Amino acid sequence: MKGNDVVRIATVVLGLLGGSHAVASSQPWTDPRLSPDERAGQLVAQLTLDEKFGLIRSSFAQPDAAKGRAMPPGALGSAGFVPGVPRLGIPALQESDAGLGVANPGQVRPGDGATALPSSLAAAASWNPALAFRGGAMIGGEASSKGFNLLLAGGINLLREPRGGRNFEYAGEDPLLAGRIVGETIRGIQSRHVLSTIKHYAVNDQETARNSISVKIGERAMRESDLLAFELAIERGRPGAVMCAYNRINGTYACEHDGLLNGILKGDWAYPGFVMSDWGAVHSASTAANAGLDQQSAGEVFDDQLYFDAPLRKALTDGQFSQARLDDMVRRILRSMFAAGLFDHPPVRAPVDRQASLAVAREVLEEGAVLLRNERELLPLDRQLHSMAVIGAHADKGVPAGGGSSLVWPYGGNAVPGLEPAAWPGPVVYHPSSPLQAISKMAAHAQVNYASGDDIAAAAALAAKSEVAVVFVQQWAAESVDAADLNLPGRQDALVEAVVRANPRTVVVLETNGAVAMPWLERVGAVLQAWYPGSAGGEAIARLLFGEVNPSGRLPLSWPRELAQLPRPQLEGASQPAGSPLPTTVDYDIEGADVGYRWYQRQHLQPLFPFGYGLSYTRFEHGTPTARVVDGQPRVSVRVRNTGQRAGADVVQVYVAVPGSQVRRLAGFVRVMLAPGEARKVDVELEPRLLSDFDIAHRRWVRRGGSYEIYVGRSATDLSAPLKLQLPPREGGADAG
Ligand code: GLC
Repeated sequence: MKGNDVVRIATVVLGLLGGSHAVASSQPWTDPRLSPDERAGQLVAQLTLDEKFGLIRSSFAQPDAAKGRAMPPGALGSAGFVPGVPRLGIPALQESDAGLGVANPGQVRPGDGATALPSSLAAAASWNPALAFRGGAMIGGEASSKGFNLLLAGGINLLREPRGGRNFEYAGEDPLLAGRIVGETIRGIQSRHVLSTIKHYAVNDQETARNSISVKIGERAMRESDLLAFELAIERGRPGAVMCAYNRINGTYACEHDGLLNGILKGDWAYPGFVMSDWGAVHSASTAANAGLDQQSAGEVFDDQLYFDAPLRKALTDGQFSQARLDDMVRRILRSMFAAGLFDHPPVRAPVDRQASLAVAREVLEEGAVLLRNERELLPLDRQLHSMAVIGAHADKGVPAGGGSSLVWPYGGNAVPGLEPAAWPGPVVYHPSSPLQAISKMAAHAQVNYASGDDIAAAAALAAKSEVAVVFVQQWAAESVDAADLNLPGRQDALVEAVVRANPRTVVVLETNGAVAMPWLERVGAVLQAWYPGSAGGEAIARLLFGEVNPSGRLPLSWPRELAQLPRPQLEGASQPAGSPLPTTVDYDIEGADVGYRWYQRQHLQPLFPFGYGLSYTRFEHGTPTARVVDGQPRVSVRVRNTGQRAGADVVQVYVAVPGSQVRRLAGFVRVMLAPGEARKVDVELEPRLLSDFDIAHRRWVRRGGSYEIYVGRSATDLSAPLKLQLPPREGGADAG
C-alpha cells in the first residue's frame, strides 16, 4: 500500500468518525495546526512523478518573441515562475527580484513601478536591525500587493572587494553587522508572507568572471567570514530558500558543492529549507541534486541544459539519483512555502500605500547616510540662506540607482532616460526624487540655482556667487561588472576642485556604490555619503543637509586610502573589453577571514575612513567601559552622554581580540538615541561566535578560554583601552559564549 492510499483511507475513516478540523477537507495538509514539515510530508505523498519534477525547477518569466519564448501561463512577469498544482492546492511561485524592492525587469509588467530602498549598504550603515526589518517588511508588502510570493532578496556577500559591482546590494565587510541587518531584512520580508532567499551562497564577492572563477579560500577562513554572515542571518531571518552562487569554491561550483550544501548548510546548520540556483549556475543533473541543489532556476534560458528535467529523470531511472532525494527536494520546497505562509496567506492584489513605503525608504537613508567630513560645522545648513548652488549628478531630476537584477523601476518612470548603457546591466535609472526640489523647499528664502556640472566653469561661477555650494557626484555600478578602480567617472573630480576653489563653503554629496577616491577631500567643507539614495533620496538628503535629521550612519566598510592597501591592489580582469581573457581563480586566502578592518589592523594600515566611522551634528562622550562575566557570558557596559545641543544617535561598538590574536573583531553593537545632555548606560551583548574560533576538525565553534581583550568605541579604530576578561573555554554554536 502506498503513502497516498494510507492518507486517503485515513481521511475517509476520520471523516466518517467526524474527526478534527484536519479531516474537514480531503486535504489534511491544509490544517495550519500541523507543522510545515508534517504538511509538506503529507503533500509529497500525493504528488505524481511529473508534479514533483514540475516543482524542482522554475521558468524565466520574461517572454522573448525574437526567440519564440512565450510568457509561462499564469506568470505575472518577473525573474522566475513555478506553476502550482491546483488539484492539491499548491500555489504557483511568483518569484521577483530583489533586495531593494520589487523589480520590473525590461518593463515586463509595463509601467509597474515600485518603491526602492536605498542601497543595502545604507541599511547596514544604520546599524539598526529593527529598521532593516521595516525595510524588508515594506518591500515584502509591495511584493505581496503585486501578487508575488517570493523575493530573491537577502544579498549578503561580504565586501572583500571595494570595486565590486554589487556592493550596493550587500551589507558591507563584517559578518556580524551583515548577519544582523540581512537577517532582519529577511525576517521583515517574510513577515508579509513572502518567501525570501538569502544569496549568493557562497563567497561570490566579485562580479569579474563570476560564472567561472574559482575562489581559493580555506574552510576555517570561510567559516569565520562569509559563511558566518550566512549562518547568523539564516538563524535570525529563517529564509525559505538559499540561492547558490555562480562561482566555484576551491574548484567546485557552488550549486554542486556537497561540502557547502549538504555538509555545512543542511548538515551543520540543519537548514530545513531549499536551495535554488542562481540564474545560469547549474552544470549537472544528479551531481548537483545529490550535492544538495533542490531547484534549477530558469534553466531553459540560462543553463546549457534543463538538467532538472530529462537528465535528472534519466538519472532516477539509472539509479544515479534516488526517489528519496527527489522527495526530499520537493518536501523542502513545500516546507518553506508552508513556513512562509504561502498556502495560508496567499498574496492579495491591492494598491500599494506609496506614502507609507516612501516614509520607510526615507527613514533608511536618513539613518544610513554617513557624514564623513564637516569642517567648521558647515553642516547643518541654515534654512535662512539667501543663495545656494546645487550642482551635478542630475540632482535637478533625481537620484541614481545601481544596475542589474536588483533595479527597481520607479513609479512614473526613469527621471533621467537615455543614459548609457541602455542594455544589460543597464538601463541607468534615476529615481524621480529631486534633491534640488527638496533643497529649494527647505531653503524657502534662498535663491537656489542648479548647474549640471557639464560646464565646469559655469558651475564654478554659480558657486562663486552663492553662499553655499552643494555638489552631487555619482558612480554608477552594476551586477556582472566590477570597477577597475575607485575613481569617480567623467570629470567629476575636476568639477569638485573648480567649485571648491570658487567657494570653500562646498558640500559634496556622494551617490556611489561604496568607497570612492576623493582627491579633493581636504579642500571641501563637508562630505555626506548617501549611497544609492532610493525612492525618497532627494527629500532625505535635504533633511540631512539642513539638520531636520541628524546624521547617524556609521560606515559598514573600510574606506581605502589607496588601492595599494587592498589584499589585491589590482582586480584582475575587471572592466576589460568583452572577449578579454578572464581570471580563473581569485585568492581570498591572502586576507582569509580578516576582511576589511581586520586586514587593515593586521597589515598596520590606516584606511581613509575606518569601519564604523561616522560624524554627527552633536557630540557623544563614552564613560569608562566595564566588562564582567555573568553565567560564563561576557557583559559589556558603557555610559554614553550626548554633550551637544541636538538629539542624535550613537552606535556603541564592541570589538574583541581573542587570546593569541592581535586582530580585533566586531563582537557586538548597540545604536542608542539620546536627547541633548542625556546620558544612558548601554549594555552590549556579545555574539559568542566572535569570541570563538571555528574548529574544522570537529565542525564546531570553540571558545578556547583565557584572557580576552575587550575594546569599546565608535569605530574600528576609535576605541577604549582594552579591558582584560578571563573567560572559561566553551564549545558550540550560538551558545558557545
Ligand atoms: C541574477 C542574480 C541574482 C538574481 C537572479 C534573478 O543573475 O545573480 O541575484 O536574483 O539572477 O534575476
